[in-house]
Amino acid sequence: MKRRFIITAGPTREFLDPVRFLSNPSTGRMGYAIARAAAAKGYEVELVSGPVALRTPKGVVRHDVVSARDMKRSVDLLLKQPFDGKTFFIATAAVADWRPKKIAAKKLKKSEMSSVLELERNPDILKSVKGAIKIGFAAETGSNIEEAQRKCRDKDAAMIVFNDVTSPGAGFGTITNRVVFVCADGRSEVLPLMTKDAIGRRIVKFCEAL
Ligand code: CTP
Repeated sequence: MKRRFIITAGPTREFLDPVRFLSNPSTGRMGYAIARAAAAKGYEVELVSGPVALRTPKGVVRHDVVSARDMKRSVDLLLKQPFDGKTFFIATAAVADWRPKKIAAKKLKKSEMSSVLELERNPDILKSVKGAIKIGFAAETGSNIEEAQRKCRDKDAAMIVFNDVTSPGAGFGTITNRVVFVCADGRSEVLPLMTKDAIGRRIVKFCEAL
């Protein structure tokens, strides 16, 4: 069976002027680890990446994006490409949920800025994807498995990979992670502290078994 993986990774940046943006501490490591694991198995891998300081894994086609809307456009274009097999969409990106309502073309002087920033919602990329088997991530502060189950249903995903970013060895920038696979059928699997590479291989295995 032919398999294609479309993976989002890293943060998005939401600029308010040419020198300022809203973002988050995502380094992209988890998404790149999954891309590496899938490419090592010979699958077609398209990696839609926000700004990160990582090398493109061998055998992976990388598409660089900046904002959430760029990321969505890139994902939509890839999904439109015909593929004769199963497509897996894996959303590891820490997409900024909000963007500044206005983007100034020139650097704003502090004297002309308000202390209140007006924001508007970004599209939910994972939720909007159709025609693929979807896997998402839920980075929470605290052990909130019910929230991962809710996200799984809400975003129509086959699985949500839950992680508590406040747990030691887990979260942003680490090479390890402590995750729980929360599946759409209500089952869940608690994994021990593992490297992100090892978790990447487990996720690819999960996809192969679907
Ligand atoms: N996600 C996405 N597009 C967004 C926001 C999130 O594709 N605009 C994806 C993430 O890549 C992740 C999953 O959705 O796989 C869950 O992200 P999270 O930020 O935990 O979910 P939210 O729906 O934004 O939840 P919350 O209500 O906790 O902010």
